[in-house]
Amino acid sequence: MNPYLPDASDPRMAGVKPLPEGLRPVSRPRRLRTTPAMRRMVAETRVVPAQLILPAFVKGGGVDSPVEITSLPGQFQHSTESIKELATQAAEAGIGGIDLFGIPEHKDEIGSQAWDPKGILNAGISAVREAVGDDLVICADTCLDEFTEHGHCGALTPDGRVDNDSTVPLYAAMAVSQARAGAHMVSPSGMMDGQIAVIRDALDREGFTDVSIMAYSAKYASAFFGPFRDAVDCSLKGDRKAYQQDPSNRREGLRETLLDLAEGADLVMVKPASHYLDVLSDVAEVSQVPVAAYQVSGEYAMLEAAAANGWIDRRRCIGESLTSIVRAGADLVLTYWAIEAAQMFREDL
Ligand code: PBG
Repeated sequence: MNPYLPDASDPRMAGVKPLPEGLRPVSRPRRLRTTPAMRRMVAETRVVPAQLILPAFVKGGGVDSPVEITSLPGQFQHSTESIKELATQAAEAGIGGIDLFGIPEHKDEIGSQAWDPKGILNAGISAVREAVGDDLVICADTCLDEFTEHGHCGALTPDGRVDNDSTVPLYAAMAVSQARAGAHMVSPSGMMDGQIAVIRDALDREGFTDVSIMAYSAKYASAFFGPFRDAVDCSLKGDRKAYQQDPSNRREGLRETLLDLAEGADLVMVKPASHYLDVLSDVAEVSQVPVAAYQVSGEYAMLEAAAANGWIDRRRCIGESLTSIVRAGADLVLTYWAIEAAQMFREDL
């Protein structure tokens, strides 16, 4: 007798009849969920450390100790020294790569610190390359928003719009300087039309035929980038809706991706991740190159905030969010939890 089930004579069972023979389930999917070992064996999606990339920030102006970013608890603005330690930890954790963003001391109209060989991002790239060599894939963000005083991702026209065709050559100069500093991969995130073709051409002309391009292909004008803008001391007033995509457009994500593939992208990316899993799944369906998804600052901050309040199970939610992104079709995930998640997924194996 099952002690948890009332027997038929229990008055609470009035009107409850056992399942008729013909209505017993023929298929019982629950059989494959019976034990942890069974569930582990039949899991359709596995996240492994090698597919995770850690976004990280390096700040100029001689900061000596890392500064925690208020809206990204657990993430720091690093010095060129502390970024080396972080990269070493990342390599030891067995993650795939690190994606570096720079916070310069001085900004100007065109973001010229971005391609200055002594600029903070290039210094950070060299420092990390020196620390980890080829043990991690060193990616560099190739975009001007951290470097311009107006905070836009490119140069402006006299009437204040972002000028596509005068911006793309600046990206090319930036990408070449990043390759020279030791980046294995550049990652143009500015959403200028034609940027991939021009960057590829510039890298090849300078002899960097082996430096790859991870294209932010389907990048949306998302409010979930909010905490990142604090992280990089971004001076933007207004928004990026004239160059980043409208969140309502799914088909357009595919169009952007196909253009980047035609221009020579080695990897394509969808960003943000969790609220764009439909776009990610579309892209994964057609792409012949690896597909990355960026779990952005707002996705991280929301979950950390809820966990700090004790409202959700932090560890399980991190695991579930990353598993969902991979399930939707991501081969790689950029995530601020990369190091911690690598450990987590390893323990769960
Ligand atoms: C632009 C860039 C942004 C992010 C990555 N690259 C900000 C933006 O487009 O406004 C956001 C990343 C995040 O929110 O975690 N260089």
